[in-house]
Amino acid sequence: MHRSPPRFLALGLLTALLVTAAGGGAAADATTDYLDPGRSVRDRVDRLLSRMSLDEKIGQMTQAERQNVTHDDITRYRLGSLLSGGGSVPSPNTPEAWADMYDGFQRAALATPLRVPLVYGVDAVHGHNNVVGATIFPHNIGLGATRDPRLVQRIGAATAEEVSGTGVDWNFAPCLCVARNDRWGRTYESFGEVPELPAAMSSIVTGFQGPRLGGPASVLATAKHYIGDGGTTGGTDQGDTRVSEAELRRIHLPPFQAALRRGAGSVMISYSSWNGVKLHGHRYLITDLLKKELGFTGLVVSDYNGIDQIDGQPGFTAEEVRTAINAGIDMVMVPSEWRRFIATLKDEVEAGRVPMARIDDANRRILTKKFELGLFERPLTDRRYLRTVGSAEHRALARQAVAASQVLLKNRGNVLPLGRDRNKIFVAGKSADDIGIQSGGWTITWQGSAGPITPGTTILQGIRQTAGPSSTVTYSKDGTGVDGSYKAAVAVVGETPYAEFFGDRPGAMGLDEEDLATIARLRASGVPVIVVLVSGRPLDVSAQLPGWDALLASWLPGTEGRGVADVLFGTVRPTGKLPVTWMNDVGQQPINRGDGQRPLFPYGYGLTYRR
Ligand code: GLC
Repeated sequence: MHRSPPRFLALGLLTALLVTAAGGGAAADATTDYLDPGRSVRDRVDRLLSRMSLDEKIGQMTQAERQNVTHDDITRYRLGSLLSGGGSVPSPNTPEAWADMYDGFQRAALATPLRVPLVYGVDAVHGHNNVVGATIFPHNIGLGATRDPRLVQRIGAATAEEVSGTGVDWNFAPCLCVARNDRWGRTYESFGEVPELPAAMSSIVTGFQGPRLGGPASVLATAKHYIGDGGTTGGTDQGDTRVSEAELRRIHLPPFQAALRRGAGSVMISYSSWNGVKLHGHRYLITDLLKKELGFTGLVVSDYNGIDQIDGQPGFTAEEVRTAINAGIDMVMVPSEWRRFIATLKDEVEAGRVPMARIDDANRRILTKKFELGLFERPLTDRRYLRTVGSAEHRALARQAVAASQVLLKNRGNVLPLGRDRNKIFVAGKSADDIGIQSGGWTITWQGSAGPITPGTTILQGIRQTAGPSSTVTYSKDGTGVDGSYKAAVAVVGETPYAEFFGDRPGAMGLDEEDLATIARLRASGVPVIVVLVSGRPLDVSAQLPGWDALLASWLPGTEGRGVADVLFGTVRPTGKLPVTWMNDVGQQPINRGDGQRPLFPYGYGLTYRR
């Protein structure tokens, strides 16, 4: 083997030191050749991994919440990832402030000896929904009603542009849950109750990532929550899915297989259990099924403090840490206790209870995605995409998706579509003029909230914009003032925002008293009543339905409420089809296609207008 004479070796080393000292970045020499983009990803991972200490490897497996770290922490502990939990935003909450925040964290990561960039995750589950001014698309249940995977892919790409403009490079989406019980508070995060619908809508993965990771506005997607989160007994969030392995594979696995076929780069583990065993500690499902049988080579991330739940007690123990890592979790979302996690995992490795091979496998998976994303070459925000946040183009796409998601369930006497001209329309309901309500959970804050929380078009504004100048549109939230002079009364009613277990409905699933009173007031006027239901799931309305002339399921449309008016006035004919069976009675839950029960409206039902 050729060896350079001493003086050449010294000169080479001196050159490298001078280049590095001059801030010209690390020269591609023997000590930093993993930075050479000309090398294969596998080669770069091997070379980088061979230089990493145990501390650096454990740091890569640690995901902390942004509020709980300083820049110095990131550098000192070699943290591999940060997240913004729902509603965890910079102040001011502007796209530019997000980009500045991200770049600040990233520079702290690049200040480590090996200059390994961090990967930053958010829940952009219906647009970049933490950011004020971002385009908020319909939640997944509405997208499932469109039956249009291509449209959903376009929504993924638009979301990825807005996410990229703020620096963020990892999206904890899509939720590919198969919602089997509408009592579940996350039903609206599901594309539908049968596996083929979420499987088809995994097209959004290609929208997020592009045809391959690392292209322009390419963001790492996350197939979540593996596995069976939508099948728990009673629809209890984070509960127990008690099914045979055959049913688990038949109902809940296909959407993940579809996502993996599309190259989804990460999988998030479910809080729920399978037959009494928490998924976060389930070696058979994570390693044997997902990684070995399905050949998943991406990274597996825990849910938020998910490892704490393995033993059913608050907080995590050393046993839970080693159980989760040995089960196959590669990165742990440990928002605040990340220092203790790092120390605990190090102890477990040094005690031989977590094999070094497992640590190396986790690091290979994590580093491979960072190289594929291009983070080593382009670690900072691509601010060209800032202008896409809330852009007219994206809002037009969202409006199109809103219209396509509307499901017309009743239209007595063809009371719809509404005439645009010389009409007199009365609009009522708490959900008619409220961006926050029509967007639902995971909007600006984790739970979402009523009120003007972000720019957009309410359903009422959409109706006013669509009705012609010769028509009258009157709004009264509770319906006061309606009389027989109106030609139609539109009641926009339904659920107020919620997320996760806050949305579980173990009891009644009907409209609230406020909505029932509003509709009764409209009905008393003798005017035809059109109910527009803004909800994250079917509600128990069979008793009231005979008194309604029309019913339109709007789901949770997001910021572009004009899309609802497009269907009410027939600008766009309703084409939506139910993604979930609509109960005739709450006692039927869970109710799903093919279970032999008689629903009010079956899976796949949806009317349209006569030509
Ligand atoms: C939440 C959700 C998960 C989300 C994560 C990070 O608890 O279960 O869907 O991605 O925490 O916000």
